[in-house]
Amino acid sequence: MSSSVLVTGGAGFIGSNFIHLLARTRKDWQVVNLDALTYAGNLENLTEIEKLPNYTFVHGDIRRPGDVARAFDACKSDAVSVVHFAAESHVDRSIESGLPFVETNVLGTQVLLDQSRARKVARFVHVSTDEVYGSLGEQGFFTETTPLEPNSPYSASKAASDMLVRAAVHTHGFPALTTRCSNNYGPYQFPEKLIPLMIANASEDKQVPVYGDGMNVRDWLYVEDHCEAILAVLERGRIGEVYNIGGHNEFPNLEIVRRVLRELGKPESLIRYVKDRPGHDRRYAIDAGKIERELGWRPRLTFEVALPLTVRWYQSQGEWLQRVRNGAYRDYYARQYGS
Ligand code: NAD
Ligand code: TYD
Repeated sequence: MSSSVLVTGGAGFIGSNFIHLLARTRKDWQVVNLDALTYAGNLENLTEIEKLPNYTFVHGDIRRPGDVARAFDACKSDAVSVVHFAAESHVDRSIESGLPFVETNVLGTQVLLDQSRARKVARFVHVSTDEVYGSLGEQGFFTETTPLEPNSPYSASKAASDMLVRAAVHTHGFPALTTRCSNNYGPYQFPEKLIPLMIANASEDKQVPVYGDGMNVRDWLYVEDHCEAILAVLERGRIGEVYNIGGHNEFPNLEIVRRVLRELGKPESLIRYVKDRPGHDRRYAIDAGKIERELGWRPRLTFEVALPLTVRWYQSQGEWLQRVRNGAYRDYYARQYGS
């Protein structure tokens, strides 16, 4: 076995797409997936993966040192790297209650860092977000040196975790790298986030809620492009560095919703303007020049290609979507793993 990768949060949206990418392109790597299976963790994202001999699922919580130790024990190679996705990830939930965000994103990250240092991991990729930079006006882009000005409990907890990673590098010479990506879309995203929620609601002729005036801007990247960027950082990034990831693909929310409705052949009369999210960041936009220059990464898919692909994916996965929407996906672990 040439190397082992411990993926945290691999049953979530981006983590499961990353595991699919490894299964396609790094067939000789061992993959250990440590996931607590919160509401956002769905093992039905990995049904084709679980049969692979070099894949192991460990049901556990990054806040618990014993659970993290079990996951490391499952790694067979001497050269173990960590790719850390596990997080509470939804801004609206963080507005309702910030504590789970501090517990997993801050405390959990420190537990993982301590355990990873004790195990002398080869590399540790911390998957963060552009939201740590706060909100932009109409002009400009986030670079890696933009000051951190997080505005939601979610982004504040992610910024805190970024600082803990930075401190581990500075104090202990720990081999960590940090990525900060813009909004992702694609297969296996939990339908509480904008694009899958719009697809799910509109497919059933239900209203689609648009916050405020719908003119908040996000910079959208197809999830596979994000996963390829993370793999490039894992394999070739410079230790201690931060890499921004984005696709120069800015759109106001209203434009996204209109395009989704058009793809589905549904009328714009389904749009319902609702009360704005408190503290709603106006605009995110990424300057990804550093990762493009240093690692030669570029997004492969444009929005014009990948949004229709994404809509088709959700249409063809009606059962997956239905099981997420009615909660049936939560039984999968007990049925498959017997506890
Ligand atoms: P997600 O909410 O879909 O998945 C999170 C996963 O982490 C779930 O499988 C969940 O069960 C697991 N998890 C949560 N708490 C845990 C804990 N205490 N111990 C172990 N596992 C736990 O999130 P996502 O959208 O896939 O995001 C993954 C990472 O990427 C996050 O760190 C997020 O901040 C970052 N990110 C997301 C986006 C985006 O657009 N979704 C963009 C940039 C960065
Ligand atoms: P979201 O997918 O929650 O990602 P984030 O808040 O991390 O950017 O939301 C994307 C944008 O869409 C954000 O500006 C909030 C907006 N939004 C709506 O207008 N309606 C919705 O129902 C949701 C979930 C989000």
